Amino acid sequence: VDESTPPQTLESRTLDGIANYIKSGRAQRIVVMTGAGTSTSAGIPDFRSPETGLYANLSRLNLPYAEAVFDISYFRNNPLPFYTLARELYPGKYRPTITHSFIRLLHDKGLLLKLFTQNIDCLEREAGVPDEAIVEAHGSFARQSCIECRSPYPDDSMREMIATGDVPHCEECGGLVKPEIVFFGEQLPAAFFLNRMKPAEADLCIVMGTSLTVQPFASLPGFCAEGTPRVLINKERAGSLGSRADDVLLLGDCDERVRDLARACGWLEELETLWAKT
Ligand code: APR
Repeated sequence: VDESTPPQTLESRTLDGIANYIKSGRAQRIVVMTGAGTSTSAGIPDFRSPETGLYANLSRLNLPYAEAVFDISYFRNNPLPFYTLARELYPGKYRPTITHSFIRLLHDKGLLLKLFTQNIDCLEREAGVPDEAIVEAHGSFARQSCIECRSPYPDDSMREMIATGDVPHCEECGGLVKPEIVFFGEQLPAAFFLNRMKPAEADLCIVMGTSLTVQPFASLPGFCAEGTPRVLINKERAGSLGSRADDVLLLGDCDERVRDLARACGWLEELETLWAKT
């Protein structure tokens, strides 16, 4: 070994390995799977980080348990905690992160097979990832409807109600209106099930900013074929990532690790320029 080359740590070898795999053109169909960790640097708390996570900070809403804020039976009885939270989370106040722009860059390069996101903040859309490339597995604030008769509720009325923290009711039947966010106890959108086997077609899988706690989303990385490298970009280990020989763990802040990967691919300037325009 040439003594002048610095000893490569495992990570830099695997980071460089993934970058070389991408630069070689062998990665043409990349699936990306994301969670709340990709939006924390935008100012939106994630759910389960100790201290800063949403579930650690909902005590002011007097919930029986934290996840009740997204529980459909609790919502039916008491929609106020959710609408108090919705006022803070509603899209339009936050700027996408450079991690969202990285996903847009993969799309622009024709490499993004599909993005599966658990997030409801629509920041991937705002970063310019097109609708047909996105599966919002847990729904989003993009649409809202009555939980009784399913009638759609007008967007502008919804924006007003959210802004004032009021609870919107259906103009047809008086039932409660809810954004089409998947609450605990509700079915995931059809688009999730229609695309659930897409990871089996991928030649690279990138998982970012998720604890992979919630099923069935957490099962997606497992659908990647043997021999498809799976990269975890996250502050901590998540799910079964790391169990396969060609899994790559790029642990740390996702914005920093995404910059490292973009730099290794020779894309950093292009990425920074793209993000600066977002
Ligand atoms: N960089 C990298 N990783 C981060 C960052 C960051 N800046 N910030 C947070 N993380 C990591 C956390 O360490 C954690 O592993 O992101 C993960 C976020 O996990 P969760 O808070 O559980 O969020 P998520 O996985 O998206 O939750 C899934 O739970 O309540 C439901 O429906 C809700 O979609 C949500 C689902």
